[in-house]
Amino acid sequence: MEVRALQFNAQVQTDLLCLVTEDELQDYAWPSPAVKQIMEAQKFSGKPGETSSCVFLPDGGDQPRKVVAAGLGKEEELTLEKVRRAVGAGLKEADKLNIALLTTMPWTNERLSAGDAARAVTEAYLLAAYRFDRYLAEKKASSVRSLQVGYGPEQEVEVIAALKLGQSLGEATNLARDLVNEPANVMTPERLAQEAQAAGEKYGFAVEVLEEEAIEELGMEAYLAVAKASANRPRLIIMRHLGDPANPDQVLGLVGKGMTFDSGGLSLKQAKGMEAMKFDMAGAAAVIGAMSALAREQVRLNVVAVVAACENLISSRGYRPGDIIGSMAGKTILVESTDAEGRLTLADAVHYIITKENASVVVDVATLTGAVIVALGNLTTGVLTNDDSLYQRLQQAAEKSGERIWQLPGFPEYKEQNKTPYADLRNVGGREAGTITAGLFVAEFVQDRPWLHLDIAGTAFSEKDGAYMVQGATGVGVRLLYHFAETYL
Ligand code: BES
Ligand code: ZN
Ligand code: ZN
Repeated sequence: MEVRALQFNAQVQTDLLCLVTEDELQDYAWPSPAVKQIMEAQKFSGKPGETSSCVFLPDGGDQPRKVVAAGLGKEEELTLEKVRRAVGAGLKEADKLNIALLTTMPWTNERLSAGDAARAVTEAYLLAAYRFDRYLAEKKASSVRSLQVGYGPEQEVEVIAALKLGQSLGEATNLARDLVNEPANVMTPERLAQEAQAAGEKYGFAVEVLEEEAIEELGMEAYLAVAKASANRPRLIIMRHLGDPANPDQVLGLVGKGMTFDSGGLSLKQAKGMEAMKFDMAGAAAVIGAMSALAREQVRLNVVAVVAACENLISSRGYRPGDIIGSMAGKTILVESTDAEGRLTLADAVHYIITKENASVVVDVATLTGAVIVALGNLTTGVLTNDDSLYQRLQQAAEKSGERIWQLPGFPEYKEQNKTPYADLRNVGGREAGTITAGLFVAEFVQDRPWLHLDIAGTAFSEKDGAYMVQGATGVGVRLLYHFAETYL
């Protein structure tokens, strides 16, 4: 998978990808009037998701070339996400035609700049061509080995920068997908820490990994209670990108849930579907991916990410339902279910990032509740916040990334559900409003910091292929967090 920028001219000899709106079946959208005629004859109309293809002989040329057309829909309804989807659809068509090198036609649309389009095209190509085939003897890679993003004479600077950003974001998202797709026998807390270290070395951010003794010294009792049962011991992973040393008081803190496997513990999950719980570290993968892109792009911000990685298993050493445990913040917690383990690790990680890393804003990302899937399905990430202006920033980031978010209410009355006569908090808020009470449990540990909580249990993994995603891990959160951070620039 390779992406290059290329100043487009009549001599370009490769196969072509034409992204075309419904209103834009004019001449310039096509390499030649003949292609336009053929596409019209094939009834290609530019609707979203529609594709068509043909072979033509360029004027004066002797090599036949293939053209893939992908529809963008109506021009006045055009969005970056429609560009990504069209690229995904176009790529599937190109794959069928066994195209190896594809060049997009230059972008000249009123609604989107050449730069935005180039970024979306690059991202979508990298995301659509991704495969998790490490364990397959017979690999089925996309035939398209390389994509050239064509630009017009005046678009060079903008397109080259956008392509670079698209590449950073696409590759960071694919890194997160790799981490999540790896099975739990491979992606242990130790391995996750090693992967974070490798990403830090590659992209230029600092990584510190604490082992059990150091975690005990910090007093992270809630985190360690969850980690107790597994022979795969916990790792506290701390990642730092201090891109704005002149403003040490501004630190964006990212916390990712890093449960490398969630069996439920003694509150055991049912066997059916348990294998999916290797994905319970998708929040961690999202923050590792976001840190990679932020460092690679040398973004001028201080960003720290923390992952309290561990595994929720069963053994005689494990914690039990009914246990009352402590936490780094000093609050006591009644464990009503050992399967509500994510909020316990997040509580300590959030307290750590505020008190030890000086985070002034906190965003946590977690595959936290099955309830968010009931509420929002697999399309939309559920969000809680204590700060509306922060949510507005996240909305901007959602628009740029195409990731869908929706806010759930955090009315104080819901906090009653996390109360118990026996401890400061209980880790289960009852069956009703499960995503909200889980988020508000974490909120008990954010002090006065502006805070966002992203429940990605529905969006981190997809059972089926999407417009530009293959089935499996989606890498959700990586691009969203990157663009969220950018709103502080
Ligand atoms: N990792 C799960 C959340 C989850 C469940 C994601 C199902 C995807 C599908 C989390 O640790 C969990 O088990 N949550 C419980 C909480 C309950 C015990 C209050 C849940 O959602 O059932
Ligand atoms: Zn659980
Ligand atoms: Zn879990």
